[in-house]
Amino acid sequence: MVLVKSMEKMNIAILGMGYVGLTSGMALAKHGLKSICTTTTPSKAENLNRGIPPFYEPQLEELVKEEVDRGMLSGSIDNVAAVRESDVTFICVGTPSRKDGSADLSAVASVAKDIGVALKEIDKYHLVVAKSTIPPRTTDGLILPIIEEYSGKAVGVDFGLCMNPEFLRQGSAVHDSLNPDRIVIGQYDKKSGDALERLYSDHDCVKIRCDIKAAELIKYAANSLLATKISFANEFSRICERFNVDVYEVMKGVGLDFRINPRFLDAGVGFGGSCFPKDVNAIVALAKENDVETPLLDSVLYTNDIQPVHFVDLVESAVGGLEGKVVAFLGLSFKPNTGDVRETRALPIIEKLHEKGARIRAYDPKAIENFKRITDLPIDYFDEVEEVLSEADFVVVQSDWGEVRDISAEEFKKLLKQPIVFDGRRTYDPKDMISKGVRYYGVGWKNDI
Ligand code: UGA
Repeated sequence: MVLVKSMEKMNIAILGMGYVGLTSGMALAKHGLKSICTTTTPSKAENLNRGIPPFYEPQLEELVKEEVDRGMLSGSIDNVAAVRESDVTFICVGTPSRKDGSADLSAVASVAKDIGVALKEIDKYHLVVAKSTIPPRTTDGLILPIIEEYSGKAVGVDFGLCMNPEFLRQGSAVHDSLNPDRIVIGQYDKKSGDALERLYSDHDCVKIRCDIKAAELIKYAANSLLATKISFANEFSRICERFNVDVYEVMKGVGLDFRINPRFLDAGVGFGGSCFPKDVNAIVALAKENDVETPLLDSVLYTNDIQPVHFVDLVESAVGGLEGKVVAFLGLSFKPNTGDVRETRALPIIEKLHEKGARIRAYDPKAIENFKRITDLPIDYFDEVEEVLSEADFVVVQSDWGEVRDISAEEFKKLLKQPIVFDGRRTYDPKDMISKGVRYYGVGWKNDI
């Protein structure tokens, strides 16, 4: 059997309606492929069918609405029906961390079963593509046998199998899914890889064909290396502070080497989000389980843990004790342009500030409700910059939203009791702030305490 339909007529099932699933669904729909995204939450499917995505992501709502309105994108809670009515199925469910750091693959196993049940009922070649971040041996060691068991069909004959990691970033998920810098196609066999490559024929970026396990590992290796660059810059930020040197100047000089490149060398309070902490922990746990030592990645995680503690120490030494101090805390999400608070550095920083007696007034344009779900610490929440600043003793910046970047030295001077700023993300130009009368402290800056 061959994939006989022309690309335009192919229907796509996307199992999972998170950042990867929904933005991939929107992008495929935009490329003319009718896509159904599934979820286990009925309200999310109903909302999607009205053009409303289940999370905030710049530009996503308008593009989703467009595709829903022209009948190219829809939501459903029925995995089996979605697969049955499609030619290609993407597995995009979450793989959260278990307590020991390893990846929880229960959602992957559950949708593999649904795919098997659906394939039993149809009599045409179907391509299954794993897009979730999954450890090596998951596609061919877990997904494949489950599909074969429940469908009674054979891989390579009745269905094809690929592993196709996703590299989009939250906050720019729409741009990244429409303009990937590379497409990695881990293929069970040539026929599967050809079918997936045909699906991506509109994209003129580099496409890499490889082994399925290599594709699984490319994703972990890419995230681990990006996290390593960040922890490297963060370690240097502490060395720079001791020598009164600006780490941004140092990393600029380092990043201009074409073998290194300047991206992901921005020192700050550490990496958060649903990917770096989870994926580095998962690959470390998997390596250890298989008797492989990971001293480098252990240090990447350790550096990330101590960075928020170090930042609070900096605040404490500069203001001489935190008891009773009122902090205007700017940015709760793990990075700007998302409401996502998973592993946000805001939590360890706020917990530490609170433990030391500070009162927290927190600002975020999108993440307040999500943050309330991960802590019950007494925090006053604001969605207006002006309100959070007034009555505060000083400012702590954790996530550099545009609204936060736009605050001027004059506003700090007017609204704060004293114009003192602790910048965890190099949101402002320190020299500019200092020249305008703000007491500026920052990660990797020449903090003169
Ligand atoms: C990351 C990767 O960048 C994506 O390529 C990947 O697809 C995604 O994980 C995933 O696995 O799904 P994401 O977590 O959305 O994307 O966001 P990033 O822009 O990578 O930022 C992660 C964290 O690192 C944020 O807390 C950010 O503030 C921090 N960061 C980033 C730094 O501290 N310094 C930097 O130079 C860059």
